[in-house]
Amino acid sequence: MPPHHVLVLTGAGISADSGVRTFRDAGGLWEGHRVEDVATPDGWERDPRLVWRFYQERRAQLRTVQPNAAHHALAAFARRLEAAGHEFVLVTQNVDDLHDRAGSDVLHMHGELVKLRCERCETVVEDRVHVDPGRFVPCAACEHPRLRPHIVWFHEMPFHMAEIERALRRCTHFVAIGTSGKVWPAAGMLATARANGATTWVQSLDEPDNLDGRDHWHPGRAMDCVPTMLAALARSIGVPQQ
Ligand code: APR
Repeated sequence: MPPHHVLVLTGAGISADSGVRTFRDAGGLWEGHRVEDVATPDGWERDPRLVWRFYQERRAQLRTVQPNAAHHALAAFARRLEAAGHEFVLVTQNVDDLHDRAGSDVLHMHGELVKLRCERCETVVEDRVHVDPGRFVPCAACEHPRLRPHIVWFHEMPFHMAEIERALRRCTHFVAIGTSGKVWPAAGMLATARANGATTWVQSLDEPDNLDGRDHWHPGRAMDCVPTMLAALARSIGVPQQ
């Protein structure tokens, strides 16, 4: 039997059960801010103190949250799949480090809160220590007074796109978890996988914009539904459960 290739894309919904707020609440605001003010290069140009404070609060919040059953189930699923000779790729739009802390290798297409990047020399550093919302962190490499969040803002190019597109072309099974299907290019991955002949599995609390009748649809909370959905997917591939 040829190996299967499973590609999983996660979004804010998988971290919601760990207590991290999703992006699009009822008022269309992100933690009370307009997306244009805190998640665009223009917003940073206009008011770097506001943007810095916003991300420093998100960085500090990481210390208070833990991976949940859905993050752990994905990490265990990857280990079983790879042990059986199949390929597994995990891509996340989330900027938290909950997949990493659950033990997954993950491509962060929208960047990572635990990293900062020099806006002048582009040196990237991992920094979990400096979370003071009122104080910028200087660059140790070039002494520029201000690092920026290592986050992909609107109008910027997501990271790892070549690797993600390669995985998308190869995948035999595509799984989307906790993403509203509103933000591109991630929103297009489900339809591309489907068109390439992959079986498609979708888990979320609300029906995403890009859901189709051909998808295996698992509505509900990620921590309840992801472990059972992955068990069903493992069975359909013929991977031992333990
Ligand atoms: N379990 C599963 N799904 C959930 C849960 C939960 N407990 N709570 C919410 N959801 C679902 C919602 O139904 C929604 O479909 O998670 C999705 C969250 O959607 P968004 O907030 O739009 O998050 P996401 O799709 O990850 O956003 C994509 O947009 O703002 C940018 O860069 C940011 O990476 C982000 C991107």
